[in-house]
Amino acid sequence: MARGLRKGLTSYGDDGFALFLRKAFIKAMGYSDDALDRPIVGITNTYSDYNPCHGNAPALIEAVKRGVMLAGAMPMVFPTISIHESFAHPTSMFLRNLMAMDTEEMIRAQPMDAVVVIGGCDKTLPAQIMAAASVDLPTVVVPVGPMVVGHHRGEVLGACTDCRRLWSAHRAGEIDEGEIETVNGRLAPSVGTCMVMGTASTMACITEAMGLSLPMSATIPAPHAERVRLAEASGKVAARLAVDGGPRPSALLTPAAFRNAMVVLQAIGGSTNGIVHLTAIANRTEHRFTLDTLDAIGRDVPVLVDLKPSGAHYMEHFHHAGGVPKLLAQLGDLIDLDAPSVAGGTLREVVAAAEDVPGQDVIRPRGRPIKAQGSMVVLTGNLAPRGAILKQAAATERLLQHTGRAVVFESVGDMAARIDDPDLDVTADDVLVLRNTGPKGAPGMPEAGYLPIPKKLGRQGVKDMVRISDARMSGTAFGTIVLHITPESAIGGPLALVVSGDMIRLDVAGRRIDLLVGEDELARRRAALSAELAPPLPERGYARLFQQSVTQADEGCDFDFMVRHPGEAP
Ligand code: FES
Ligand code: MG
Repeated sequence: MARGLRKGLTSYGDDGFALFLRKAFIKAMGYSDDALDRPIVGITNTYSDYNPCHGNAPALIEAVKRGVMLAGAMPMVFPTISIHESFAHPTSMFLRNLMAMDTEEMIRAQPMDAVVVIGGCDKTLPAQIMAAASVDLPTVVVPVGPMVVGHHRGEVLGACTDCRRLWSAHRAGEIDEGEIETVNGRLAPSVGTCMVMGTASTMACITEAMGLSLPMSATIPAPHAERVRLAEASGKVAARLAVDGGPRPSALLTPAAFRNAMVVLQAIGGSTNGIVHLTAIANRTEHRFTLDTLDAIGRDVPVLVDLKPSGAHYMEHFHHAGGVPKLLAQLGDLIDLDAPSVAGGTLREVVAAAEDVPGQDVIRPRGRPIKAQGSMVVLTGNLAPRGAILKQAAATERLLQHTGRAVVFESVGDMAARIDDPDLDVTADDVLVLRNTGPKGAPGMPEAGYLPIPKKLGRQGVKDMVRISDARMSGTAFGTIVLHITPESAIGGPLALVVSGDMIRLDVAGRRIDLLVGEDELARRRAALSAELAPPLPERGYARLFQQSVTQADEGCDFDFMVRHPGEAP
């Protein structure tokens, strides 16, 4: 039952007076009693001058408000933190949990019967969904949508897979100073999120597949009029949820929904970050997401969507080919169609309404996949007792079974200082090892896992090498890269024991990553490890809370005290 402005009236022991006060203040904004006596739909405002990905948020907010009002409810916009990948020091991941807490507490604190969360840049949808799962108020997610593509010399460009590729070409001396500057102005030609299958697109697709947003919400380009209409429609849905009281996130985030999310993650060749976020979201519910299940699903689920960085196209092409509903249709019995959608009904109706686009080649049929097996594999071994991730779809085939000599970097700083040193003892067959880049080590598990190819090898034409770390990697990057090695080196994980010159074996078929050093020698090295591994606990503030409470990658890097334990009410 909608309670509107009456929600949460407990502070004075006199509800009549509390409501009287609330109304007295809010009327200063010019609202009438007719407006204030309606169900309320809260709308998050994550617009920020530092967040170009959310540059269309004001237009979307206006459209959501219109939808809410057309349906007879009252919209109330409120601000929360906004995080952009490039403007979030030390890392956006460091701030994700802060945004989740901010969003959760603002939804709890203020009177509203339903909420529309508008986000999109990498960490924002995960943070908002984590919050929604914890509050369990009816929620509609509205992604801001992907950018349109850029063009340069007859070539299509995308942020930021091509940022990396072209910068590497510049480093290798193939693109001069003038051209790289021209390219710089063409990589991100509109507002919206990165238009490759990076983390933002991955999370938007997963969100849609879990039924938390309306059909087609992941793929409509950010600047398109259609996205504004989607926002209006989302406002109408939210108004209905405000009156009906549901479905709530707990009714949508079911085991079937998480399974569907894992299937879609594999089928889109999604970002490895999606695994960490999905784990964190599941841990806010009474369900769990295991790496074993993800790997098992990956063995059955083909990669069907042909998008950069593993494929050829971009989000707008995925959209024009039929988007997530068409993908769900192609996945057929791999998807549980009984899973509900916030729009009402189940995924069965979503799939039934999927558009058939003749001649499209972006969403493949199962008989003609991009890759027969899923994009992500889970590795374990003596280097990663609790797991590590490799994005097989973005790796070099011949390196998937590889043994090489370790070249170890102690930290991102150490790597930056030495990787381009002409005297660095490194060959293309070596394994580059980066440590102290995990959740506590860096802190915030930076996207440093895409170690650059040493300049002297790059100039010889080397495009890929096996690289391993406890860091994350941008979803827009590619290469034979082992990530999220858990436990991380800064808390004494075995990655801390590797010495340059050791042999490391990557065996993707066997799902293993091993350090080929005898147990006795490893025990000796372990004993010699300094007790003070992790960086010192910060004196104060959020950094201290983060360092004390952040969990490992296999637990979602959420704060340990935010997890919902099975059986615990939201
Ligand atoms: Fe915002 Fe890529 S920088 S999605
Ligand atoms: Mg990213």
